[in-house]
Amino acid sequence: GDTVEYQFDVETMNVTRLCSSKSIVAVNGQFPGPTVLAREGDLVVVRVVNKAQYNMSIHWHGVRQLRSGWADGPAYITQCPIQPGQSYVYKFTISGQQGTLWWHAHISWLRATVYGPIVILPKLGVPYPFPAPFKEVPLMFGEWWKADTEAVISQALQTGGGPNVSDAFTINGLPGPLYNCSAKDTFKLKVKPGKMYMLRIINSALNDELFFSIAGHLLTVVDVDAVYVKPVTVETLLITPGQTTNVLLTTKPSYPGANYYMLASPYSTAASGTFDNTTVAGILEYEHDEYPGSSASFNKNLPLFKPTMPQINDTSFVSNFTAKLRSLANEDYPADVPREVDRRFFFTVGLGTHPCAGANGTCQGPNGSRFAAAVNNVSFVLPTTALLQSHFTGMSNGVYESNFPAMPSSPFNYTGTPPNNTNVSNGTKLVVLSYGESVELVMQGTSILGAESHPFHLHGFNFFVVGQGFGNFDPMSDPAKYNLVDPVERNTVGVPAAGWVALRFRADNPGVWFMHCHLEVHVSWGLKMAWLVQDGSLSNQKLLPPPSDLPKC
Ligand code: C2O
Repeated sequence: GDTVEYQFDVETMNVTRLCSSKSIVAVNGQFPGPTVLAREGDLVVVRVVNKAQYNMSIHWHGVRQLRSGWADGPAYITQCPIQPGQSYVYKFTISGQQGTLWWHAHISWLRATVYGPIVILPKLGVPYPFPAPFKEVPLMFGEWWKADTEAVISQALQTGGGPNVSDAFTINGLPGPLYNCSAKDTFKLKVKPGKMYMLRIINSALNDELFFSIAGHLLTVVDVDAVYVKPVTVETLLITPGQTTNVLLTTKPSYPGANYYMLASPYSTAASGTFDNTTVAGILEYEHDEYPGSSASFNKNLPLFKPTMPQINDTSFVSNFTAKLRSLANEDYPADVPREVDRRFFFTVGLGTHPCAGANGTCQGPNGSRFAAAVNNVSFVLPTTALLQSHFTGMSNGVYESNFPAMPSSPFNYTGTPPNNTNVSNGTKLVVLSYGESVELVMQGTSILGAESHPFHLHGFNFFVVGQGFGNFDPMSDPAKYNLVDPVERNTVGVPAAGWVALRFRADNPGVWFMHCHLEVHVSWGLKMAWLVQDGSLSNQKLLPPPSDLPKC
């Protein structure tokens, strides 16, 4: 492969949206940030220079980072933050992945504005397993607050309540015409008739899973999380924060004399008021053959069609859509699903509370408590030094414990009437895996404080989604229904609301790997944990030593 190099200057800039200006942290004066473009096999080198007043760290979401965990980026997991005035060079090789991933800040809520696409083309001379598109366009969904997002989250953590919801969703940073004072900030996709486009869709929203649809057009999903899938054609798709989805879009054979809204609207089963229930619109605009490149002037009175979106709580749409996604699992792109399992884990994931004691100010959580969230009742606390560093140097005493529970201490009816005691405990606990073990992980959503879908992201690995269902996972009957032939392979999966999902992966990447819900509010409440994968015995099974410029705490 080649080497592709970038410099990211992290700086503040002023941006106006919804008739209101604020200062945001952004990269190279661009919002959304620049695209990292590479081919499979390339070495990517990004020098991040922190010229802002916040601690910074960048995560290359979905990049496997084989043996290069020092470049993964989550603050206090694989590295200490890059402090103001400092820089750090991230170096990693893209291996065995093609499609779309993305990068984002991985500290506090700074990813609200610090994010951009990673476009991974196949190796030179290797075609897509579908006809080559005429044009490829990244589409990043985001969320916009008029307020400063660091203030939004720090206030929520101080009061123990929920943060204010966003003021708008965005497509490529633009809220679009369905919001007040926003028509001029509309994403327009200009297309020619009779062509095939590939949309590289990324959900970089902080707290919302999103439906997406384009009026009058079908979308064919061909790749998710940088792994090809069997093509599935739909009117509407669902994408959780953290996920990426490549779709093919074939335009109408001739100039249609109409324009078409593309809409993204939220999916949520959470109690009302805890999510942004608005819709972002972009416009699919056809260029007229006679006026190439300039459609605006004669488009004014054209009909503008709107797609019908699913209801906000349409969980059955979501489970039907996700069940359609399958790996290619063919000769060229085999699905290497672990058939035997060495280690089994059963994690409950959901909300809970902390007692209010010790907090200054009011406690705005349920029954005067503070909101929390936990995996197997452990609400994860970030350490003050990076876990990977303390593991590598053997100085882990007092930094973390290696006893993360493999299953809940006492089973309960996870999806039934929740127990009275919702209190969770704090800890910095890891699961330790030997190199090469194959792991089965069942994640069970709970109904404590309401059933909600949790999009879980695993760093450092792809996993196969071998099963999913509603209600409580049944270890006697459910495994018999697993798909071990062509399950979808990805890095972020929705744990269904009041349901479960079963994953398998091989622990073939030594290091410390974060796993968390990709709803940022839940991360702030502790819905996260980490895996430690030990070195293997061969020299090519060991974590490489840290780079000399690794930031210190
Ligand atoms: Cu996209 Cu740990 O995150």
